Amino acid sequence: MPNDVVTMDKIVSLCKRRGFIFPASEIYGGIANTYDYGHYGVLLKQNVVAQWWKAMIGDRDDIVALDSAIIQHPKTWEASGHLAGFTDPLVDCRTCKQRFRADHLAELECGRRPSKHPGEDAQCDLTESREFNLMFETTIGPVKEAGATVYLRPETAQGIFLDFKQVLQFARRKPPFGIAQVGKSFRNEITPSRFVFRTLEFEQMEMEFFVPPDEAPKWYAHWLEERLDWYVRLGIDPERLRLRAHDPDELSHYSSGTSDVEYRFPFGWSELEGVANRGDFDLRAHAEHSGEKLEYVDPQGGERYIPHVIEPAAGVARSLLAFLCDGYDEDEIGGEPRTVLRLHPALAPVKVAVLPLLRKDGHPERARAVYEGLRKTLAAEYDEGGAIGRRYRRQDEIGTPFAVTIDHQTLEDATVTLRDRDTLEQERVSVDGLARLLQDRLAVD
Ligand code: GAP
Repeated sequence: MPNDVVTMDKIVSLCKRRGFIFPASEIYGGIANTYDYGHYGVLLKQNVVAQWWKAMIGDRDDIVALDSAIIQHPKTWEASGHLAGFTDPLVDCRTCKQRFRADHLAELECGRRPSKHPGEDAQCDLTESREFNLMFETTIGPVKEAGATVYLRPETAQGIFLDFKQVLQFARRKPPFGIAQVGKSFRNEITPSRFVFRTLEFEQMEMEFFVPPDEAPKWYAHWLEERLDWYVRLGIDPERLRLRAHDPDELSHYSSGTSDVEYRFPFGWSELEGVANRGDFDLRAHAEHSGEKLEYVDPQGGERYIPHVIEPAAGVARSLLAFLCDGYDEDEIGGEPRTVLRLHPALAPVKVAVLPLLRKDGHPERARAVYEGLRKTLAAEYDEGGAIGRRYRRQDEIGTPFAVTIDHQTLEDATVTLRDRDTLEQERVSVDGLARLLQDRLAVD
């Protein structure tokens, strides 16, 4: 797969130009590390999430779905260790009034002299480093002072642990089994983000897989392989993927082993998702804090134990960014430069574009009819505005795998031109059976 031409500037500009992703609150000057998703961004995001659900509950039958609340009982975060330990070390500069990650100063720019790092200039005046909790706080109740302090969840995982007992009963499950959830999480990140790589609010795709304690190493290895393979199946070049085991000093407070699935972004190797062996840390902690027994009891043999947990935890935006970077390509058609997103068909926001060659002579009416037929089963788009070459270019930039063009001949023999985004081959095919043909080529139902 070619994509040595990709840079973050090109991705950011394509996303804005085509309305995938753009800065939030732009009319007010934007807000740090926060983005909005436009039409194609929403569709791409939905497709990424759908493929994750497919891998979790469509392709296997040992995982069930959950959608837990964003605001949970505040004791949740005491038990999970987030209140005490989910912190970053920060320093403030009394001169430029900016705040910096104390452990990232060497990579950051001074607020007044961007050519220097914070603390390097004679005028810099940094405070001592102090720990800053990343959880967003808010209040339940109409009066802030009298209300209860609660937190926006910093990970979706804890909702799964809180509901472990319920699911065990309702889903009539026995370890090994998993509970999967997709939803928004929130972290008060102050490090400047590389586009959507690190944002204040983001969607996570997390699955907690509960196993008998002695099976934890086996399932840890299983999920590492499964998760790496998911990205490859969806078209990412394996050369740009790797697994990296955390050093002992990097491990989160709950983890006895974590490996990151990393992607080689234009800015270097960075985490796409983490696969952690959380042991029995979470169930044990919530059992202690709530007084509820959170364990598995075998109804026959009376066997009883606290399951261990293997957790693949992915971020929707980071996956999406990797798919965009990996699919980005530039080539030439007839001496003209072209930008193309070679997205996997399952991820492409639009599967087929329907384009009348002319805006007259009955082309639009015939094209509309073809479009109406296709959109019953495929994500299709109709476009009649502008020269045909420009319309092809537009579809290439949003990653549409196929374009169907309606011309004079269509009116005579009910055939259309089918153009392939990647090979650029054009073939004449019959309108009858076009939907089936596309479904086969796209391998989507
Ligand atoms: N429950 C475990 C957990 O939350 P994590 O490594 O902190 O682990 C999991 O987060 C994934 O969530 C990351 O690999 C990343 O894809 C995504 N993620 C975490 N923080 C993020 C942020 N601020 N912006 C975007 N994605 C983020």
